[in-house]
Amino acid sequence: MIQFGPEIDRTLLADTLTFAEKQVKRLVEKHPGFYPIYTKNGKWKHEGPAWTHWCDGFLPGMMWIFHRRATEAGSPSAFWMDRAIEYSRPLEPRQYDKDVHDLGFIFLSTYHRWLQLERDPKLNDVIVQAGKTMALRFQEKGQYLRSFVSEDSIFIDIMMNVAIIFYAARETGDRKLRDIAIRHALTTRRYLVRGDGSTAHEGLFDLQSGEFLRQTTHQGFRGDSCWSRGLAWALYGFNSCYEYTRDPRFLATAQGCADYYLTHTNPDGVPSWDFQAPDDSRHLLDTSAAAIAAAGLLRLCRQLPDPVKGFYYYSSALRILRTLCEKHTAKDDAKWEGILKGGVYHIHKALGVDESVMWGEYFFCEALENALRHSPAGVRKHNGAGR
Ligand code: GLY
Repeated sequence: MIQFGPEIDRTLLADTLTFAEKQVKRLVEKHPGFYPIYTKNGKWKHEGPAWTHWCDGFLPGMMWIFHRRATEAGSPSAFWMDRAIEYSRPLEPRQYDKDVHDLGFIFLSTYHRWLQLERDPKLNDVIVQAGKTMALRFQEKGQYLRSFVSEDSIFIDIMMNVAIIFYAARETGDRKLRDIAIRHALTTRRYLVRGDGSTAHEGLFDLQSGEFLRQTTHQGFRGDSCWSRGLAWALYGFNSCYEYTRDPRFLATAQGCADYYLTHTNPDGVPSWDFQAPDDSRHLLDTSAAAIAAAGLLRLCRQLPDPVKGFYYYSSALRILRTLCEKHTAKDDAKWEGILKGGVYHIHKALGVDESVMWGEYFFCEALENALRHSPAGVRKHNGAGR
């Protein structure tokens, strides 16, 4: 259960974001044009496998965040703008990529941020096409977007990517696209989110009948456990669905996931890699799950009609950020190339265990920037739809 401490120190958040900029600058200077996924002993470049090709938006995504931060501080940065474009542009062909279920991760962190700045319709076309490509994964029998591993599989992570289908639906007025996104979210809610707000990583369907068969996992401890990062993806993803649809079922699901996280995490807000991790690996935290949860809570807190609950989520997000800033960054380890230590990518394949991971870096920066940009008073305001 999360416990609150002293008020947040804005200087701590701002200094950590400045440290993040330094680490990203160091990465692009040392390995120009390289898009890493996870570190090995704190180094980004190594021969370890990717498992799946889903992370390329996160590095440029951070550059867009740094550019916006500099612009809002009154000193627009040509350095970050140029790097952000240089690293975003090569992703463009992936608008047609049918091999991954991650097009939201890739384009909402990059082209969508770029579009907000430049309003160029060509950028919009790329995001819309990526949303249409994502929608091709839809299985009528079973009513879900299939995961990258097989046709009969649904992943909780896909909840982070349905927003790009909602976006494409809104831009084109195509109700079929919107319907696919809604049906996938309802299927996920029904089969992967449990009554206590915990989540399963994967679900399997019978392809002939569409019948749901069982919950299982790749990256979590067991099919019936709650993989921490999956829960954080669900918290954030269902809130995004609510932002697009205003359907109260999605808000309730996001809140259920948030409440499970906050009542089961360690008192400082950073959870073990799986909420039911066995004794021999319970000590392994996943800081990336914490960063995603903080980023999600900072969005969710602004959607709630109840200001008390909203403030609880806001304070929880700040508590998590304070822990990450104080205990888990690489600030005191000059040899470590990442920003946030203690992420876990795939424990069973021994990939990126107790390392820096690109999505952890990105959502940590997103949460830091969000926390610095909005005051607690903003918690009571009702945000507009969309990301
Ligand atoms: N494949 C998404 C994740 O590792 O969270």
